[in-house]
Amino acid sequence: MKHMIIYAHPNPKSFNHAIKEKIISEIGNKGEEYSFISLYDEKFNPVLASSDFEALHRGEVLPDVAKSQSMIKEADHLIFIYPIWWFGQPAILKGWIDRVFSNGFAYYEDDKIFTPFMTGKSATVYVTLGTAKEVLVQNDMEIDNFMRDMTLGTLGLVGIYPVNVVPFYAIPKISDAERNSMLESIVI
Ligand SMILES: Cc1cc2nc3c(=O)[nH]c(=O)nc-3n(C[C@H](O)[C@H](O)[C@H](O)COP(=O)(O)O)c2cc1C
Repeated sequence: MKHMIIYAHPNPKSFNHAIKEKIISEIGNKGEEYSFISLYDEKFNPVLASSDFEALHRGEVLPDVAKSQSMIKEADHLIFIYPIWWFGQPAILKGWIDRVFSNGFAYYEDDKIFTPFMTGKSATVYVTLGTAKEVLVQNDMEIDNFMRDMTLGTLGLVGIYPVNVVPFYAIPKISDAERNSMLESIVI
């Protein structure tokens, strides 16, 4: 099994950073392989621009996109790690998906037919939230509802299955002991 970790958090002191470290250590313990991209460290340009479309029309792929696409091609399992910001992904991750999951790579679509190209791969999506689970439930905002853009509308659409979501709630409000026990619960 080869994993690809897609990590989107700017702060090395964050809980997301600790999750990423734990996952890398778990993969090592299992003797499995992984590739890794930190979107902030790479300063990945998340803006899908006319240069992307022009490259596609020439049958080419821009170098930063090509690098991520070749990592995806080699992976069996994608691991996303990011904080929930405004009930979605950080913009840098949204833009990475916009540019990397392109027509002809992640799927093929013409006038009549949509064909997913990422079948055979699976994914786990680790997300952190500031809000407690109970508050979301009280407000009819369960995680399955707002993760659908990612799980069904993005990963599912291009054929990735299964997609497992692992949420960590109320991160800024809980104790170090609670955060440590969350980290302990992560098993690859
Ligand atoms: C720009 C921004 C938007 C946020 N939006 C949400 C949100 O929609 N829902 C939520 O539960 N928490 C939200 N938060 C809180 C973060 O999700 C939370 O602080 C983070 O997941 C904690 O993990 P970290 O220490 O690794 O950053 C937001 C934080 C920021 C900075």
